[in-house]
Amino acid sequence: MSDKKGNEQGVLNVGIDLGTSRSAVSASNGQRHVVESYVGWPVDMVARKVLKSDVLIGAEAVKNRTMLDLHRPLERGLIKEGSEKDLQAVRVLLEHLVDLAIGNKGKRGKTKVRAVVGVPAEAMRVNKQQLRKVLEGSVDGLMIVSEPFAVAYGLDALLNSLIVDIGAGTSDFCVMRGHFPTEEDQRTLTQAGDSVDDYLLKLIQDKYPDAQVTLYMVREWKEKHGFVGKPQGKVEITAPVQGRPTPFDITDQLKAACESLIEPIAETMLDLLPRVDPEFQEDVRNNVILSGGASLTPGLRPALEESLAPIGGGKIQAVKDPVFAGADGGLAIALDADDSDWDQLA
Ligand SMILES: Nc1ncnc2c1ncn2[C@@H]1O[C@H](COP(=O)(O)OP(=O)(O)O)[C@@H](O)[C@H]1O
Ligand SMILES: [Mg+2]
Repeated sequence: MSDKKGNEQGVLNVGIDLGTSRSAVSASNGQRHVVESYVGWPVDMVARKVLKSDVLIGAEAVKNRTMLDLHRPLERGLIKEGSEKDLQAVRVLLEHLVDLAIGNKGKRGKTKVRAVVGVPAEAMRVNKQQLRKVLEGSVDGLMIVSEPFAVAYGLDALLNSLIVDIGAGTSDFCVMRGHFPTEEDQRTLTQAGDSVDDYLLKLIQDKYPDAQVTLYMVREWKEKHGFVGKPQGKVEITAPVQGRPTPFDITDQLKAACESLIEPIAETMLDLLPRVDPEFQEDVRNNVILSGGASLTPGLRPALEESLAPIGGGKIQAVKDPVFAGADGGLAIALDADDSDWDQLA
């Protein structure tokens, strides 16, 4: 018999954040890794010969996308119904992250792996059973939780807090009341990093119809220069016009695209907070936690904090490490879990 908790011999506990754009692992052996949530299979035998591989993952997959059947399986926060390829891609991602955590080229030996996997709240609601089916064969113990809950757990913010996780495909909200969140405690919006990218691309194309611009270029500009509120200076980027590199000022477009997040997120907070038990509302308002990659947008946190004024104001703090907040939280859950909490597999 094993003892109940923590770092047992021969057991590797891992927290995994399966995000729509990035997935991260944080393991009890100290390993931490992040990969882009892309999986691609060579489109034909030529591509397979060029790539010398049956499947590519992460940045490698994005780089070689023209030769691949490329999948971003959790896009928009849930696995598209009936897509076997997407389910396979989720499994490939999970196994890749586990292999990275194990090191030793993924050779597990006798090591048992127990994983707490955080997924977008919507995927958790709609696809939990499907996810369990594809993932349980890859690990020895499995728990699937919603990502904002994993973040809350990692920060020990389990009582009277509101987690706002602004990722790529979705923004997830979760009010923590000292127990596992119910459906009423959670909300999901599709306004998040990807919608900012789509909108920015459209604004740039409307203003500069001759500029040759892709979504990948736009995302990079946003991550480097994006902002909410007063611009720090002019944002000028270079894009080809009929092949010729040409400078463009995208300051206004970038501001408008990034600010498109404020209203829907503020509205959702203003809808959730008054539903909290009245005597705890003030505590929750003053304990709002912002996570997710898009929360790194300069100016966004104060703008959202300001939006709480109509209900008496509040405090919003940003997590220190949005890339690993979910994975670290998953690991914390794994280390705390009793044997009976794990869905033990034969
Ligand atoms: N410095 C940054 N400023 C603004 N947005 C960013 C920055 N870094 C990453 N992002 C955006 O954050 C999103 C990814 O966040 P993440 O929490 O990893 O998402 P997910 O959990 O959905 O995979 C993407 O839309 C990305 O463009
Ligand atoms: Mg995430």
